Amino acid sequence: MGFFVPPFGRDRTALIQREHSYPAAETAGYVVRIQTPSRLVITVTLIAAQSIDGFITRNDEPGTAFCSKEDQEYFFKALMSFDSLIMGRKTYELSRDAIHASRATNKLRKIWTREPELWKANEILESVEFTADQPKAILEELEKRGRRECVLLGGSELYTAFLEKELVDRMFITVEPRLFGSGKKLATREISSQFALEETSRLSTNVLLLKYRKN
Ligand SMILES: NC(=O)c1ccc[n+]([C@@H]2O[C@H](COP(=O)([O-])OP(=O)(O)OC[C@H]3O[C@@H](n4cnc5c(N)ncnc54)[C@H](OP(=O)(O)O)[C@@H]3O)[C@@H](O)[C@H]2O)c1
Repeated sequence: MGFFVPPFGRDRTALIQREHSYPAAETAGYVVRIQTPSRLVITVTLIAAQSIDGFITRNDEPGTAFCSKEDQEYFFKALMSFDSLIMGRKTYELSRDAIHASRATNKLRKIWTREPELWKANEILESVEFTADQPKAILEELEKRGRRECVLLGGSELYTAFLEKELVDRMFITVEPRLFGSGKKLATREISSQFALEETSRLSTNVLLLKYRKN
């Protein structure tokens, strides 16, 4: 599907025609912007909690002990609406006991690691699986297996990789009223996707929840 915008660059018309076989009459004088629809049906939501100054960890401390009880309550409720989740191996290791004790067996959890073979002993098919696949391939596989609502649970490396590939549809960000000065960032590189703020709410007097959707 293409749509037309007023001419910014006639010089690009020929190239566009060659690449997409548009007839000359249709493209003359216009730049054709091709919208490549994502072939993915699965919706990808990133959930994270951060400090006011944008850190998802407090300095070098692993884990999310800095999060308020209100955030934790909201987080566990929010998780119920997803049928699949993806997390980086480091985040998995921090919550491994809770994950393996969880009764939410209908959720398919994919743990991202470059060495999935090292984690075979921890694998529970259809529940906790390890993968070295690229982000889009992981989502395609989840989709093939009937999953439609996927949540990304961090950490920083995982968020950055999915954001960079423009695979994140929504972001739910809790802002805790803290300033850490250092720690891991939600994204470690600049991300070109732009997001629209869809909803703001308070989880408590001081804790904000911001919901964004990709433009
Ligand atoms: N505040 C929050 O909302 C929040 C949420 C989640 C996590 N966190 C915090 O974030 C920290 C962890 O974040 P992190 O960025 O250090 O680690 P991470 O994203 O949880 O996991 C990183 C791991 O992902 C795997 N990985 C990276 N690139 C890969 C690739 N191309 N292919 C396959 N696997 C790949 C590697 O596993 P291998 O080394 O096994 O190869 C890498 O060590 C923790 O302290 C956690 O508590 C905070």
